[in-house]
Amino acid sequence: MKAEQLFDVNGHVAFVTGAASGLGLAMAEVMADNGAHVVMTDINPDTLTEHRQRLADGGGSVETIELDVSDLAALRTAIDGVAATHGRLDAIFANAGISAGPGYQTDAGQINAVDQAKWDEVLHINLSSVFTTIQTAAAHMKRQKSGRIVVTSSIAGLKAEQMVGYAYAATKAAVINLVRQAAMELAPFNVSINAIAPGPFYTNIGNGRLSDPAVAKAFSDVVPMGRIADTSELQGLALMLGSPAASFITGTVIPIDGGSTAG
Ligand SMILES: NC(=O)c1ccc[n+]([C@@H]2O[C@H](COP(=O)([O-])OP(=O)(O)OC[C@H]3O[C@@H](n4cnc5c(N)ncnc54)[C@H](O)[C@@H]3O)[C@@H](O)[C@H]2O)c1
Repeated sequence: MKAEQLFDVNGHVAFVTGAASGLGLAMAEVMADNGAHVVMTDINPDTLTEHRQRLADGGGSVETIELDVSDLAALRTAIDGVAATHGRLDAIFANAGISAGPGYQTDAGQINAVDQAKWDEVLHINLSSVFTTIQTAAAHMKRQKSGRIVVTSSIAGLKAEQMVGYAYAATKAAVINLVRQAAMELAPFNVSINAIAPGPFYTNIGNGRLSDPAVAKAFSDVVPMGRIADTSELQGLALMLGSPAASFITGTVIPIDGGSTAG
């Protein structure tokens, strides 16, 4: 089968959270570049507008919604609204997430320094909002008997990681089992749901802390490929999981990590 057919998302409606930057932007771009109508959502409306314009100039079909995923009612309204307007929802990327600060390698990241308010915020955004995204999309996808749900976890959800905070590690593990649980229920409806587990990518997460050369070195030193990835390197996996190519892939977690979880 030709690649164009295998990964054909022409006319599909895709919804991405946290789409103004980093991995979410890369997901939105690859879906738009391959013919999907992409709904880009984020808390940052100015950057969203800039990217919508750029993608539209390149021939992409894109709309934007200012959306804070921590507002669960607004999140539901946005997803329901897109499904109602377009009459379908083919793919959703539950991607928005925040850092919980440094890991236990520094004093500020050690277990007794964990701030309760920060813990609650990270659990809400990285777990509860992901659950609501899946839950709301599932209702539409079950009805239409098709759909792709892609959740952004992390390699920190698969193994201990000294450079990420406790709440981050906990939520990224939790969403993996959430994916497995939902995969069982949704499989008979021809709806697939998978998690991706990225290693380090250059994005703005944690106030762009990877732009600090010392932090970047610490992260890249533990990657067998010896480097931090560019967000474009996520696009093949995102397109595969969001397209017909993933027709028999569900309930999985796929690392994209330069070999970090292999050894
Ligand atoms: N960058 C990495 O190395 C890496 C590795 C593993 C997993 N991840 C995960 O990738 C996902 C995307 O992060 P990124 O690295 O691209 O970071 P990023 O900061 O570049 O992008 C995240 C986007 O989400 C938006 N956002 C933040 N809070 C939001 C909210 N409450 N509602 C809606 N949008 C919100 C931000 O405005 C931003 O545009 C996160 O879930 C993150 O945990 C990143």
